Amino acid sequence: MEFHVITLFPEMFDALEAGLIGRAARQGLITIRSHDLRAHGLGNYRQVDDTPYGGGSGMVMRPEPIAAAIDSVRAEREGLLPILMTPQGEVLDQAMVRELAQYRPGLLLIAGRYEGVDERVRSLVDREVSIGDYVLSGGELAAMVVIEAVARLVPGVVGNPESLSEESFGAGGLLEYPHYTRPEEFRGMRVPEILLSGDHAKIRAWREAEALERTERRRPDLGAARRKR
Ligand code: 6GU
Repeated sequence: MEFHVITLFPEMFDALEAGLIGRAARQGLITIRSHDLRAHGLGNYRQVDDTPYGGGSGMVMRPEPIAAAIDSVRAEREGLLPILMTPQGEVLDQAMVRELAQYRPGLLLIAGRYEGVDERVRSLVDREVSIGDYVLSGGELAAMVVIEAVARLVPGVVGNPESLSEESFGAGGLLEYPHYTRPEEFRGMRVPEILLSGDHAKIRAWREAEALERTERRRPDLGAARRKR
């Protein structure tokens, strides 16, 4: 699966060379390419933004460089789903991540700046995505969040696919059960006896109950715990 990003800060995406995602890219399971919006800027100064019509503070990204960048990536690669990263978009959750992970050849993420992009850019994309109700100065980190979350669902990226269904917001829509490893006692806190029992049916039941209780207490908004009861 391919992830293309149009951005004024292509070097930020080098961060994705670390860890699981970097390894998946080196293995050829995913491809991550950032495309410099500045290359499509206007005039000798490669201008990409301008003052807002009607006045006001801040700058607005002009539509032509973004349109040219989208055209240039799509000329190279057909069928990418263009997504504008904006705090006004649909808020990302694991259901949307699962949906985005189905697109082939992949996604074309456009990282806008917070003050905004010209309204007409919206006509150039299929979706608008936000990663939550807080302010980032640019869409770059948000695009990286989308890439990280979606890439993990590409077959082969996560070594043990079972760990995908067990994690928080997995199939059950619950938070994860508590995890323990060695030592058996740490600063007076013991590992729950049941986990040392070797009784796998009991362990499964305990984990399920813990996940439900934890979801209900910490994230009653998820509703999943209540529906399961
Ligand atoms: Cl996608 N962009 C910006 N600039 N801020 C955000 C965001 C996106 N999602 C949450 N905050």
